[in-house]
Amino acid sequence: MTEFFVEKIICSRCGREYSPESNPLMCTSRDLGRLDFVYNYAAVSERLTRSELKRREVRGVWRYWELLPVKKEYAISLGEGDTPLIRARRLADKLRLNNLYLKDETRNPSFSFKDRAMSVGVSKAVEMGVEVAVTASSGNAAAALAAYSARSGLRCVAFVPEDVAAGKVSQLLLYGARVFRLKQVEEGVDPTVQLMMLAHERLNWYTCPSFGPFNPYQVEGPKTMLYEIMEQLDWRSPDFIFVPTGSGCLITGLWKACMDLKNIGLMENYPRLVLTQPTGNMPLVDALRRGLSFSEIKPTAYPQSVASGLLDPYPWDGDLALEGVRKTGGIGVAVSDEEIMNAVKMLAGFEGIFAEPSGAAGLAALVKLLDEGVVSPSDEAVVLVTGSGLKEPEKIMKLYPTTPLIEPSLDEVLKHI
Ligand SMILES: Cc1ncc(COP(=O)(O)O)c(C=O)c1O
Ligand SMILES: [Zn+2]
Repeated sequence: MTEFFVEKIICSRCGREYSPESNPLMCTSRDLGRLDFVYNYAAVSERLTRSELKRREVRGVWRYWELLPVKKEYAISLGEGDTPLIRARRLADKLRLNNLYLKDETRNPSFSFKDRAMSVGVSKAVEMGVEVAVTASSGNAAAALAAYSARSGLRCVAFVPEDVAAGKVSQLLLYGARVFRLKQVEEGVDPTVQLMMLAHERLNWYTCPSFGPFNPYQVEGPKTMLYEIMEQLDWRSPDFIFVPTGSGCLITGLWKACMDLKNIGLMENYPRLVLTQPTGNMPLVDALRRGLSFSEIKPTAYPQSVASGLLDPYPWDGDLALEGVRKTGGIGVAVSDEEIMNAVKMLAGFEGIFAEPSGAAGLAALVKLLDEGVVSPSDEAVVLVTGSGLKEPEKIMKLYPTTPLIEPSLDEVLKHI
C-alpha cells in the first residue's frame, strides 16, 4: 500500500471535514473556503529528517512528497523546483546589505514558480482520473498547467485576460491548450474565474487555477520553495523573505511550509514574510496597514500595473496570506511600476538574472525597506524571483526605445560609447 500522510482535510471557512480518500476539490457548502490538509506530523517527522534528506537523491518538488497531498506514484514531473539560491554579492554591495540571496525561480520548466503548483495540481488530476482541466489566469499559472497537461495527456482549457502577455499566451498555444481571451465587462469581477466556475458546474471540468478555494492541491506545491531554501541555508531561517503577491496563494504556501517545518522540528524561528504588491492593486497591503480582517477586503475595481501576474482583483487566499505575514512578524509593502522596473534592471545588470516585472517586485520591496530602515544591513534577506523576463519582452524593450543602427565600423561604435 502507498504511504500517505494526509490525515484529514478541513474547509478554511466552515470547518467541514473531508476524508483524504474522497478527493474533494471544493467545500460542498460552496462557501469559497479553501480545503486545508492536516498531515500526520508525528509520522512525517520520523521520515523527513535532516539526515534522510542528505541521503535522498530525488530533487525538486517531489523530494518532499510526504508533505504533498498526492500519492507519489502519480507524480507528473518536468524537473520543477531544485532552483538555485544565488548569493547576490554585487547587488548586496550596491544595496549595502551583507547577506542577500536570490531564489531563481525563472529556471523552472515553463519559466515561473507556478510549475511547482501545477506539477502537484496535475498529478492529483491524474490520480483522480479526470480528463479536462480548466484554469483562470493572467498567464503564468495557465502556461504551467498547459505544460503539465501536455506531459500527462490531460486536455487543458485556459481563460485568460484580454491583454495577456505574448510570451505567456504563446506558451499556452504551443503546449496545446484551448485558449480564450475574455472581455472585462464588470468592474472588480474577474471574468476568467466566473467562466471557469461555470465550466466546472456545467461540464464537471477539473478546476486548476493557482487559487486555493478552487484547487487546494496545487497550493501545496510552492511550499517546496521554502523547504529548499531552508536546506540550501543549512536549516538556518533567513530574517526576511520577499514575496511578490497577487492572489496570495504563493505566500499562503510559504506560510504553510513554515508551519510544516516547525511541526516536524526543522524550523525554529519563522522568517519574516514580506508581502509585496503593486500600488495599482494592493488590497492585502492595505488590509495589513489598516488592521483589516480578510472578510473586510473589497476587490480592486481596476487593477493596474506593469506586473501583470499581480493583478488579481481579489486575493482568494488572503486569509492565510494575512495570517502568515502577521504571525511571522512580516510586513506588507506596495511598490510603484517605476520601482518594479528598476528592480528588473538591477537583477539583470548586477546579477545576470532575467526577470519579468512580477518576478522582480520582491526586490523592489527590499530596496524600499532598506531605505526606510526596516531591514538593516546585517539582516539576511532572500528575494524570490518568480518569473522569467522572456514572458514579457515587450515591457523590457520599452526601457530601451532605441538601439543604434550603424555602419559596420569601429569608429561608429566609439561614437556611441
Ligand atoms: C511571476 C509571478 N510572481 C508572483 C505571482 C503571485 O502569486 P500569487 O497570485 O500566488 O500571490 C504570480 C501570479 O501569477 C506570478 O505570475
Ligand atoms: Zn466550507
